[in-house]
Amino acid sequence: MSQSRRPVIAGNWKMNCLRADGLALAEAVAAQAGQVDCDLVICPPATLLHSVHELVGETALGLGAQDCHYKDSGAFTGNISPTMIKDAGCSYVILGHSERREYHGETDADVQAKAKAAQQEDLVAIICVGETEAQRDAGDTMTVISEQIKGSIPTDSTSENTVIAYEPVWAIGTGRTASPEEAQEVHQHIRKELASALGEDFAAATRILYGGSMKPGNASDLLAQADIDGGLIGGASLNSADFLAIANAVSK
Ligand code: 13P
Repeated sequence: MSQSRRPVIAGNWKMNCLRADGLALAEAVAAQAGQVDCDLVICPPATLLHSVHELVGETALGLGAQDCHYKDSGAFTGNISPTMIKDAGCSYVILGHSERREYHGETDADVQAKAKAAQQEDLVAIICVGETEAQRDAGDTMTVISEQIKGSIPTDSTSENTVIAYEPVWAIGTGRTASPEEAQEVHQHIRKELASALGEDFAAATRILYGGSMKPGNASDLLAQADIDGGLIGGASLNSADFLAIANAVSK
């Protein structure tokens, strides 16, 4: 981590939590949100955004959605727009998660259009990139990441409305984490690509999160790396004690 970039710890709840469990989890996390040395964010499923906001909207806990459409309204059955997310009390939206890319066929161009629409609504776009195991084994990691960075990030992004998440697909939900050195190598590469695409100032100020089986036991070592500015947490964000332990690892 760098002293100049405020860390972000964001929880991606994915398709988990009914109302009672979700509200209890949000409340437990919100109770500590003012005490941690980072921006703490939760991204519940869309069904819970309004009620979570009503419960914890006055606290330091940030709220995010897990996806959005690139249009503001219209005949797009099943989708939600950046305006709706904003209306539900969100300040963040995760975009281009590998599960969206894989199961919903999202391309870099789709992700870029969504990010642009989200940023126009004053949401912070958490833009995800990451290679598959086959791509890593073939030695293509850096090429894949470069393409995703160039294709997914709007060219007029700012470091305030953009967060990047590096999530190696082979580390998501597998219990297999990238080593701190492996992760740092890619984060450093991402920062270099950000500099060439959007300039040195953008690259120096933009937070790059690691995601993929980040847990209380491995968080400190990952977060100690120079270019890792926080985490995007899946499984461990469903347990308030684990999620807060990761947030507390930021200052260690
Ligand atoms: P896990 O922490 O469960 O591996 O998930 C990571 C992730 O996909 C967060 O977006």
